[in-house]
Amino acid sequence: MEIIRKPEEMQAWSRTRTGAGQTICLVPTMGYFHEGHLSLMRRAASLCDVVVVSLFVNPTQFGPNEDLDRYPRDFERDMELVRQEKVTAVFAPTPDLMYPQGFQTEVRVKQLATHLCGKSRPVHFAGVATVVSKLFNIVLPDMAVFGEKDFQQLAIIRRLVADLNIPVRIVGHPIVREADGLAMSSRNANLDPANRPAALSLSTALHLARTQAAQGQRSTAALVRLLEQHIHSFAGTAIDYVSFIDCDSLEAVAEVDEHTVLALAVFVEGKAGKVRLIDNGYLLPRG
Ligand code: PAJ
Repeated sequence: MEIIRKPEEMQAWSRTRTGAGQTICLVPTMGYFHEGHLSLMRRAASLCDVVVVSLFVNPTQFGPNEDLDRYPRDFERDMELVRQEKVTAVFAPTPDLMYPQGFQTEVRVKQLATHLCGKSRPVHFAGVATVVSKLFNIVLPDMAVFGEKDFQQLAIIRRLVADLNIPVRIVGHPIVREADGLAMSSRNANLDPANRPAALSLSTALHLARTQAAQGQRSTAALVRLLEQHIHSFAGTAIDYVSFIDCDSLEAVAEVDEHTVLALAVFVEGKAGKVRLIDNGYLLPRG
């Protein structure tokens, strides 16, 4: 497995592979790998001849008061984990290689970025869309795998690729969870084990909403009230949003149907400050 730091070396590497008739699948990440990331890498290996994992904690997608400094990092541990997977190369640039002096371009997906996480994280999705566009131009993949855990991010990437005619097939991969239901996240490393029930309030809220929907509850206003009560019943939680949205437009909906997704973001008291957790899922069985 190769570790490549420089964008121009990565491009040359990819051109050689493509020239030899191989297909490339990219898995973009910010590192501190868990089973969620590893399952994306396995999916990528099932799709293409070679897998490139990018590892870059992208500073431009963090707001000024967010957790860029506290974001967990361990490059050696990540390389040990990735070596056990069918990963051909890791692209791990430094911020100055990605954003050299004079950098001033931004990619912004307008409407989709205004909902959900975009409300409390106004710069986040422009940072994501810009870095992912750069990664596509640097790694030159045929396909890229993204997790459904970041539902809004996936919707934005799909829109970006369609709008800019980027020749990369986007593959969504289901959420990987801990045995107790917590959606895996690098940020879980910052959780306080004593506050596990609070961290679990997202997945238990999702379960509660699905049970209610299966019993015929269709009013999202009633469900929001119920879920807010549920989450607030755990000490150390602060809700960012509890939203029932249409899976394509991400607009809030009044009635639950097969296209309805529950999206949640909750701050949970962690080891050193609040940890922002997200989760989501369809309310009703689909198709
Ligand atoms: P990161 O949070 O490291 O996530 C990398 C990829 O792993 C994303 O596609 C994310 O949706 C997926 N992922 C994370 N947890 C998952 C889980 N429990 N189950 C399934 N997939 C999961 O998302 C980012 O990095 C960045 O925004 C990035 C796209 C790399 C741009 O900087």
